[in-house]
Amino acid sequence: MKMSKWISTGAAVAGFAVAMVSSSVAMAGDIEEGKALAFSKKKGNCLGCHRIEGGAQAGDIAPPILMMKYRYPNKDELRAQIWDATAANPHSVMPPFGRHNIMTDSEIDKVTEFIYSL
Ligand code: HEC
Repeated sequence: MKMSKWISTGAAVAGFAVAMVSSSVAMAGDIEEGKALAFSKKKGNCLGCHRIEGGAQAGDIAPPILMMKYRYPNKDELRAQIWDATAANPHSVMPPFGRHNIMTDSEIDKVTEFIYSL
């Protein structure tokens, strides 16, 4: 009796560990996909205006994207900036990617994950 209790606890712990590992793998995939979306000329084209590490031929009309965790301790605010830059600055030349359906919500989530990792 006591033995089987130990076994089931062990199985639960193992299951938890597996869940942790698989969710961090999914995160890494999101960052990679987000990078591809951000650098794609047809989607984010963030490089058209921003300098981002790893991106070639970046534009220089907007602030470089770096240290985003310090600029945006709250990741939701970073996502909101990407979703609709005109909310913070009505005269922004940055396209409102979410509001204008340039990217889907899930694409914006991935771009946010990538940008947040910089
Ligand atoms: C057409 C030019 C343009 C494009 C394309 C563009 N941005 Fe911007 N972005 C700007 C400008 C200009 C600002 C400065 C603030 C403002 O004017 O709204 C800015 C500001 C930002 C900020 C705030 C930076 C800070 O330090 O607070 C973030 C984050 C950002 N952009 C992310 C992105 C991402 C991610 C993409 C691609 C999905 C992107 N931008 C595409 C022009 C652009």
